[in-house]
Amino acid sequence: KTRVTVLISGTGSNLQALIDACGSGQIPDAAIVRVVSDRKNVRGLERAEQAGIPTATHGILPYKQKHPHPEDSKKMSDEARSAYDTELARIVLADRPEMVVCAGFMRILTPSFLGPLQQASVPIINLHPALHGDLTGAGCIERAWEEYQAGERKSSGVMIHHVIADVDMGEPIVQRVVEMEGCSTVEDFQQRVHASEHPLIVEGTTVIVQKIRASKTGS
Ligand code: GAR
Repeated sequence: KTRVTVLISGTGSNLQALIDACGSGQIPDAAIVRVVSDRKNVRGLERAEQAGIPTATHGILPYKQKHPHPEDSKKMSDEARSAYDTELARIVLADRPEMVVCAGFMRILTPSFLGPLQQASVPIINLHPALHGDLTGAGCIERAWEEYQAGERKSSGVMIHHVIADVDMGEPIVQRVVEMEGCSTVEDFQQRVHASEHPLIVEGTTVIVQKIRASKTGS
């Protein structure tokens, strides 16, 4: 089976979509070998445990304390980010995954993580709640909603893309437009986004699993 590691930070509804799709064979011959969260006690970790998937929590606090930000103690210094990512790479690679899926993982990944994964030829994909090149970073659902209310947009979207150091700018694998018309609150819109994400993350993961399989068999 193709070995998949999933990175999360919270609720894990997209992780659940992946667990279900691996279980049902919708993603053929793939297995989640570990779920890693940067936050402890989140719902996503419970979902993994319920499915019998090994978990790890890799928190940022010790890294922030060891390498404090020169100006703002709430922020992460470059040194902290890099040390955190070096250890994240070690945790992830210990399971010999063939791909990594970021499913609501809310941290920026730096070359300290991306480099070792690239060395090991492990592709990393990310779920992002906006179309490629439109909105990047955190809070895209809220920002799109504000623009909708100001009459400046009618739709947004969701995408699965390859992860590169340029945040949310890696090559898209699959994307879907999400219309905003008919939504009366940001929660309505958020629900629509989530409803689009769950099939999309399964589709995007399947694309990469099939590529990995094809490269193994040389077909
Ligand atoms: C999803 O909406 C995903 O698009 C978003 O976090 C949520 C996770 O939900 N990711 C980002 O904003 C990444 N920049 P979940 O924990 O229920 O899967």
